[in-house]
Amino acid sequence: MSPARKGWESGSTNQMAYTVPKLEDYSPAALDSAVHELLSALRQEADAVRSENEWKEFRDRWMARKNGILTQINDLWLKAAPGPSKREAGARVNQLKSEAEHIIDSAQQRASGSAAQMRTDLERLDITLPGIRRTLGAEHPVMKTMHEIVSVFRAMGYSVAEGPEVETDYYNFESLNFPPNHPARDTQDTIFIAGQEKKQQRDRLLLRTHTSPVQIRVMEKQPPPVRVVIPGKVHRADTADATHSPVFHQVEGLAVDTNITFSDLKGTLDHAMKSLFGSSVKTRFYPSFFPFTEPSADVQITCFKCGGKGCRLCKMSGWIELLGCGMVDPNVFGFVEHNGYDANKVSGFAFGMGVERITMLKYGIDDIQLFYQGDVRFLEQFM
Ligand code: PHE
Repeated sequence: MSPARKGWESGSTNQMAYTVPKLEDYSPAALDSAVHELLSALRQEADAVRSENEWKEFRDRWMARKNGILTQINDLWLKAAPGPSKREAGARVNQLKSEAEHIIDSAQQRASGSAAQMRTDLERLDITLPGIRRTLGAEHPVMKTMHEIVSVFRAMGYSVAEGPEVETDYYNFESLNFPPNHPARDTQDTIFIAGQEKKQQRDRLLLRTHTSPVQIRVMEKQPPPVRVVIPGKVHRADTADATHSPVFHQVEGLAVDTNITFSDLKGTLDHAMKSLFGSSVKTRFYPSFFPFTEPSADVQITCFKCGGKGCRLCKMSGWIELLGCGMVDPNVFGFVEHNGYDANKVSGFAFGMGVERITMLKYGIDDIQLFYQGDVRFLEQFM
């Protein structure tokens, strides 16, 4: 800072510093000129302020309670005014004070660093330049397929439900007819949450291995009839390779009503597969096993690549296995009997499909890991 700018007394104009004059004449014209003189002195000093510190010094000179210029005015102009002029002088002094405060405030804003920075930024901003266009993100292919599957079922009148990814043993296994210690649990490669040993087995936490626990959660909340699809993330202790990932997605389905039969299941899934893969695919139901459905089946569709002749994709069989399904086991209804699910009165079917697998088949993707690597060159192909 140059010494010449250090304080108000040596402002760039080099004028004598302003001092409050005694007023002899209280005529309006004389008052006006006294006010004018004071304000122009104030403005000049305000313009010379260049920093916070200078501004504080400047503010104190004008505003200090004890002996600041605005205080001196009270004594020298107001108190000294003869009776008849008091009103006139008072009005002007009030006006002058608020004007002065305004000038002092703006000086602070100008002096503070951020204000100065803002000014230079504005000076640098070239509003004639075209804007920077942000590239649009694309829906992730897995989410895209998941939404597609869900909307196929929504069109058939299904509603949508979701459930927690951290689940209890009860919902993930027990209520789905996996008895404690039953070997069918081993097929699920479960990731358990540590430190749960003190709890009863049914309350122990794990990462859900399938979306099927939400079947029970839905039936606990809602008496029959039910038609629901359940999209979600599931976890298994699988080593990552071209077809396995410890985290993947499923869409579950559940329909319960009076008189639901295996033909309803076949018709529903046949329609869904045709909607997803094209109207020329055929489905076949191959016997399988799940603890919570009886009978159970794996659904296969004719290979849409070779049309059933046999190729590498379908391992020369002409068929591709896509999902598991079956009629809800009466034992499962037993766990929600209190909510109107009497196995003698209602029946239902359930199904569950892997979203990554369906996406890979639909788009001819040969490595599941591509979904999780976040490579834009891969992802932007699904815009
Ligand atoms: N939950 C089963 C799995 O993850 C799939 C399934 C769901 C099978 C519903 C039958 C009925 O393998």
